[in-house]
Amino acid sequence: MNNDIEKVKQAKKSFDHILDSKKYADIIKDDGHLSLLLSLVEDSKYDRILDIGTGNGYLAFPLAEKFPTASVCGIDITETIIGKNNQSVKERGISNLIFKDFDGLKYPFDDESFDLIVTRYAFHHFPNIENAICQMNKLLVSGGRVLISDPLKNEEDDGGIIDSLMQVKQDGHIQFYSLNELDELFMSNGFVKGNQIITSMKFPFAQQPEYINIYNGISDQDRDLYQITNENGVVWVNHINVGNTIFVKI
Ligand SMILES: C[S@@+](CC[C@H](N)C(=O)[O-])C[C@H]1O[C@@H](n2cnc3c(N)ncnc32)[C@H](O)[C@@H]1O
Repeated sequence: MNNDIEKVKQAKKSFDHILDSKKYADIIKDDGHLSLLLSLVEDSKYDRILDIGTGNGYLAFPLAEKFPTASVCGIDITETIIGKNNQSVKERGISNLIFKDFDGLKYPFDDESFDLIVTRYAFHHFPNIENAICQMNKLLVSGGRVLISDPLKNEEDDGGIIDSLMQVKQDGHIQFYSLNELDELFMSNGFVKGNQIITSMKFPFAQQPEYINIYNGISDQDRDLYQITNENGVVWVNHINVGNTIFVKI
């Protein structure tokens, strides 16, 4: 539990500085990916939607627009961005969207409060993942859905290569899950699998010796799992799959 609190603190410290910047907004912006996520959930109507780890509301704002009769709530551990998002809601006169901060561990809602939960690029930050999934299950009405969009660990990455690189940043990264791990986590906690679309992404790490040390310490075979390269002192992950998966509460 203490370790969970420490991880949330680490994430909060790291995201507090960057979430509101234009540079960060440009990094997480991906119009194609956003359209894909919206299309994955468009075959149904919703009354109440929750976006966990909403950040600057990149997904929450379009969800509120796409489902005008639903009430949408975005939650995050970072109070400053929540305040700014709510200010923007007010300025834009949006009536069905609200943002709230929370402690990163206990979702502050009653059981059966939502019929859709989404989370984009935040799932790998959730401490105690089984507990998070159990809570999501309780928050949903029967037949409610979760859409998880997050990078996937390669099934052959036994040594946790991608996680060791990600953890250098000290931004509260817990771990990426492989497709099989993700299925197992949800299917053993009261969900069945719905539609899934795999996308991919590439990204560089900061120019730091820690990344180069890890790069130098792994085999060519391991580098190939994510096409990891060293471009003049900058370590790149050139291909990591992203799982965009719907799970349905039984
Ligand atoms: C990479 S950003 C993604 C933000 C947004 N979902 C998007 O797609 O742009 C990760 C987000 O997860 C949030 N986060 C970190 N730890 C969290 C936790 N334990 N619970 C909920 N959100 C968390 C961060 O504050 C940050 O806003």
